[in-house]
Amino acid sequence: MLPTLPPDLDRDRLPSHVAVIMDGNGRWAQQRGLPRVAGHRQGAKTLKELLHCCKDWGIGSLTAYAFSTENWCRPTEEVNFLMLLFERLLRQEVAEMQREGVRISFIGDLSALPDTLQREVRRAIVATANNQTVQFNLAVNYGSRAELTQVCRQIVEKVRQGNLNSSEVTESLIAQYLNPSNLPDPDLLIRTSGEIRLSNFLLWQLAYTELYFTDTLWPDFDRAAFHQALLAYQGRD
Ligand code: IPE
Ligand code: IPE
Ligand code: MG
Repeated sequence: MLPTLPPDLDRDRLPSHVAVIMDGNGRWAQQRGLPRVAGHRQGAKTLKELLHCCKDWGIGSLTAYAFSTENWCRPTEEVNFLMLLFERLLRQEVAEMQREGVRISFIGDLSALPDTLQREVRRAIVATANNQTVQFNLAVNYGSRAELTQVCRQIVEKVRQGNLNSSEVTESLIAQYLNPSNLPDPDLLIRTSGEIRLSNFLLWQLAYTELYFTDTLWPDFDRAAFHQALLAYQGRD
């Protein structure tokens, strides 16, 4: 039973995998005369709420873009704040993820993250590995071009070692390398804050995904806003 699904949504046509580009934290804070980091703090709450919502409404997978390979170019203070925020959230939220049946995984080059954050990442992955209600995939130091380049390297190396013929390099092989945990491609991508671009997010995986753009800033993207996105999704062919 998923009692809280809004009655105007069709349970049988919900996306099974939603991806989000969480944008607009800085502007949200600026509008309130607050430092940008206050927007990130609020944005983290929004993400938690969206995760709850996925669980309540029976949406099995959520992928969220938290930090891009380009985001290292932001002021050091902001980058450091974000790294500490990720670390603290992972530490604090694992117990809740256990209760809610959330299994966390990551995409992106985690080796560049602070050691203390890497430790929390590993801990959270192991702790939640057997949960089955919601698959939560967090993109940290993620860039789609870097990801595809990495896959090319791995495949070239396999061919070089004589373990793969070039004729065996197919779309499905590349998809397997991109997505070892076999998550289906996203059915719906949401980007907040009025920007209409992909910013190097899941370029391969979004080939057939419905795209939804909203002016709402990420910290304001609440259940009602998600409901609207799902209605728009269900209104399409
Ligand atoms: C998105 O919000 C969060 C991250 C990229 C970490 P922004 O920080 O990009 O907010 P704006 O776009 O400056 O408003
Ligand atoms: C995209 O937001 C990346 C994340 C949400 C993590 P940005 O605000 O960094 O993207 P651009 O720079 O506007 O394209
Ligand atoms: Mg932005």
